[in-house]
Amino acid sequence: VAREWGLADRADTAELLVSELMTNALRASGRLTTLGPPVVELWLACDQVSLLIQVGDGDEKMPVRRDAGPDAESGRGLLLVHSLSKDWGTYRTASGKVVWALL
Ligand SMILES: Nc1ncnc2c1ncn2[C@@H]1O[C@H](COP(=O)(O)OP(=O)(O)O)[C@@H](O)[C@H]1O
Ligand SMILES: [Mg+2]
Repeated sequence: VAREWGLADRADTAELLVSELMTNALRASGRLTTLGPPVVELWLACDQVSLLIQVGDGDEKMPVRRDAGPDAESGRGLLLVHSLSKDWGTYRTASGKVVWALL
């Protein structure tokens, strides 16, 4: 989508950020229940200059950046989001929250 929108220079980074945010959202949302799979939403928006990635999930806990030690095998996702985005953040919604990143 980023390439179609003329933001090819940001497509690879966008893919990485979407992957990190979606993985976190899925893990926070829990498992398949009788109601079906957890709902996770992805929105992309652009204004020709910036690309805004937003991922919504139904969990109310807000993400916290961890200090991953040199040997840690997890806990670097939000560090990547922080390093690679212009800005990022979270906000609550009626059904949970959204984590967003701006490229
Ligand atoms: N969408 C989310 N909802 C709730 N907690 C989150 C979410 N995303 C991240 N977190 C919390 O922030 C921590 C750090 O996330 P991250 O840096 O991606 O590391 P990892 O996913 O490897 O644990 C997670 O372990 C989790 O506790
Ligand atoms: Mg993660």
